[in-house]
Amino acid sequence: MIIARSASELKAALESKQGSLGFVPTMGALHIGHRTLIEAARRDNETVVVSIFVNPTQFLPGEDLSKYPRREEADFKICELSGVDILFYPEVSAMYKEDEVRVIAPDIRGYILEGASRPGHFDGVLTVVMKLLNMVHPTRVYFGKKDAQQLALITQMCENFFMDIEIVPMETVRESDGLALSSRNVYLNESQRQEALKLSSALKEATKMVMQGNIRGNEIKGAMLKLLEPLEVEYVAIVNRQFEALDEVMIGNTIVLVAARVGPTRLIDNVWM
Ligand code: PAJ
Repeated sequence: MIIARSASELKAALESKQGSLGFVPTMGALHIGHRTLIEAARRDNETVVVSIFVNPTQFLPGEDLSKYPRREEADFKICELSGVDILFYPEVSAMYKEDEVRVIAPDIRGYILEGASRPGHFDGVLTVVMKLLNMVHPTRVYFGKKDAQQLALITQMCENFFMDIEIVPMETVRESDGLALSSRNVYLNESQRQEALKLSSALKEATKMVMQGNIRGNEIKGAMLKLLEPLEVEYVAIVNRQFEALDEVMIGNTIVLVAARVGPTRLIDNVWM
């Protein structure tokens, strides 16, 4: 495995590679969710590139940038054992200069739900993903459905900027009790971890209601909010794949989303129907 720490090192590492290239961008503290993306990239492509970069521009002031988990040694081992060819591991100074051009998220889709709770977050995500895609030039790039709005906005960016890259959406990987894997789960203590299960339980209830024929948005959201008590809920939403609000679930074109705080930790989860 080659470890590249700058654009020029990455370019040199990529020069010797031929054929299709699969890319998995991450912020590290790798878990089985990330590994599933890497394994898919390994299966589908001749070369696999993973990036680990805790991108400062997607954290708002007061968020967890400084305490975001960093696990260099374990992450390098996981990448090596997963058959990664090139690990891109830049410092902030290798990615950003002063007073740069930025990508701005769309006015509506970029500023509802996650974008309303974290205004400017998606500008940072899109900017760093644009940089990474231009540095790696992948054939395919892998993203988790767990970050559904991020996936939708990156897909839109690639369309709006006529970028010829195949985006591969990957299912959310969960613990056996339903908790969606997240690098932020390490912030949870034992009792908070139990409370965190309320997110996936609420989504399970939504799925159950739809399977029983109740597609009414207000009733589904009401049932979910009850199950989420007493957590501080930021939003419960039912949208289509374009992130337009729906009054009723449309099977095949619906995402039910939740964001809530468990203690100080902000968690998100969703289910695609
Ligand atoms: P990060 O949170 O490290 O996630 C990297 C990728 O792993 C994302 O595509 C995310 O959706 C996916 N992922 C996270 N948890 C998952 C799970 N439980 N199951 C399946 N996939 C999961 O998302 C980011 O980093 C950053 O915003 C990034 C895109 C790298 C830009 O900085």
